[in-house]
Amino acid sequence: MCGIVGYIGKNDSKEILLKGLEKLEYRGYDSAGIAVMNENGVHVFKEKGRIADLRTIVDKSVMATTGIGHTRWATHGVPSKVNAHPHQSTSGRFTLVHNGVIENYDLLKREYLNDVTFVSETDTEVIIQLIEKFVNNGESVLDAFRNTLKLLVGSYAIALLDNQDQGTIYVAKNKSPLLVGVGSDFNVVASDAMAMLQVTDRYIELMDKEIVIVTQEKVTIQNLNGETIDRAPYTAELDASDIEKGTYPHYMLKEIDEQPLVMRKIIQTYQNDQGELTIEPEIIKAMNESDRIYIIAAGTSYHAGLVGKQLIEKIAQIPVEVHVASEFSYNMPLLSKNPLFIFISQSGETADSRSVLVQVKELGYKALTITNVPGSTLSREADFTLLLHAGPEIAVASTKAYTAQIAVMSILAEVTAKSCNIPVEFDLIHELGIIANAIEALCDSKEIIEQISKEFLSVTRNCFFIGRAVDYYVGLEGALKLKEISYIQAEGFAGGELKHGTIALIEEGTPVIALATQESVNLSIRGNVKEVVARGANPCIISMKGLEMDEDSFVIPEVHELLTPLISVIPLQLIAYYAALHRGCDVDKPRNLAKSVTVE
Ligand code: F6R
Repeated sequence: MCGIVGYIGKNDSKEILLKGLEKLEYRGYDSAGIAVMNENGVHVFKEKGRIADLRTIVDKSVMATTGIGHTRWATHGVPSKVNAHPHQSTSGRFTLVHNGVIENYDLLKREYLNDVTFVSETDTEVIIQLIEKFVNNGESVLDAFRNTLKLLVGSYAIALLDNQDQGTIYVAKNKSPLLVGVGSDFNVVASDAMAMLQVTDRYIELMDKEIVIVTQEKVTIQNLNGETIDRAPYTAELDASDIEKGTYPHYMLKEIDEQPLVMRKIIQTYQNDQGELTIEPEIIKAMNESDRIYIIAAGTSYHAGLVGKQLIEKIAQIPVEVHVASEFSYNMPLLSKNPLFIFISQSGETADSRSVLVQVKELGYKALTITNVPGSTLSREADFTLLLHAGPEIAVASTKAYTAQIAVMSILAEVTAKSCNIPVEFDLIHELGIIANAIEALCDSKEIIEQISKEFLSVTRNCFFIGRAVDYYVGLEGALKLKEISYIQAEGFAGGELKHGTIALIEEGTPVIALATQESVNLSIRGNVKEVVARGANPCIISMKGLEMDEDSFVIPEVHELLTPLISVIPLQLIAYYAALHRGCDVDKPRNLAKSVTVE
């Protein structure tokens, strides 16, 4: 969701900015732009649509060694050239890109900017006009920037150019992610390290409400009172090849195929020299001290949280509640006496989850973040972090992060159980090894799954997923995957719930994908399939070896019954992938979606 890049150095900035924006495409966007500054002033190029469209309008003859760029995911105002960033102040002196939402923009317009004609419908424009107003009133640019930030309510990551000062990019952030990257004769700004890995792997983290003055030689961080803050850069441990597609047609397919590797990496990383699974003692202590765990997440991570509840309750025997972050934040339930909060987030930047984290920290509760991104906001602000080690996930539709989240939660449950002598009747390392092999086998069955996808989904406008127990949770994820990338309306239901209303939507030929991986409910889910078949549904049963029946469409290998989500989700990810592919959808960049949802 919205991405920012900036460059100040000796080289022409246009290509560096455009390449940086391409690396941020995965976050989701609907327009893009760059502004570059040279002795002739600031040159702005922006366009609705893709970076490829932007490239066609950038004037190659303009040479400029300072510039900023932006991908916009529309919040205030439709996706259009006018609403695209960068935005400029009325005189054209100031140019700015912004990621986030200014909640009080309307009030600020009325209170301070009655005399200003706004060109766009965005909340962003208020920032640039306020800066210009304060400068016109005699303030220095830095003071005007600082005083503007003090008025803003909401979230922002900002990069600002002043055409009277070619040597500076002003930067600030609050709640939205932003990093400054350092080089030997240049410095950069980026929403995430991947964007500027092309020029540097050394980054400085920024904290909320800090202002940064970035020049070619220097990075100066200040708080809102103007006091300077020293902070050393860290090295981003990212391999440039991790963020390339290689020979794959889509990142999503690459990331589905990476799942066996990720399983093995997780086993290896969480194992000690004695071959036992291990987790920081402070985290296990917090688990044991809690009387109830609250898992907070959104989207796919929420679905992983539902599976995590099952794992923690069954293995570690601690009660768990799972909450959608955006709901919890505004409607907090009655909490237990000693809660522990677990935030699950691939990106570690989801604004809804962060808002809950801020609230629970204020209440004095402990929080653990399970994330794929070290140094992300949710990781920095929680007491503890467990990393997914899944490698960068670029496709908007989350796949390998989901299975990694479940695997890490299984390890957390197992280590917690063992720490207080709760018997664990299986060898998790061995079982996760079996899982890795089973995922590999499933990834080798792509042709069969592609055929299933064609057979059931090529003409339909809707599809239902049903399952019981943990299969229900996986069905929710299967439905989310299908709808987000193929735009087929897909919903997941508990097998027994469908007949309480939704069965009315079953028509002749409606595809119903049923999961049957749990012995205790195998017969009852098959009963639910019969109910929908009697009303004309076209059933696709995906069962597990040992529970299969003649009518099943696909049988997944047998694994431990607590861990079936790790493999039953694979055919669902592939079904969604092929459904989107056959419908000609943009698999990696589905419409309206953002990878990193940094606004509430
Ligand atoms: C779906 C998907 C989203 C994310 C959700 C939370 O494929 O990717 O539903 O899971 O936006 O994002 P994170 O996990 O980064 O907090």
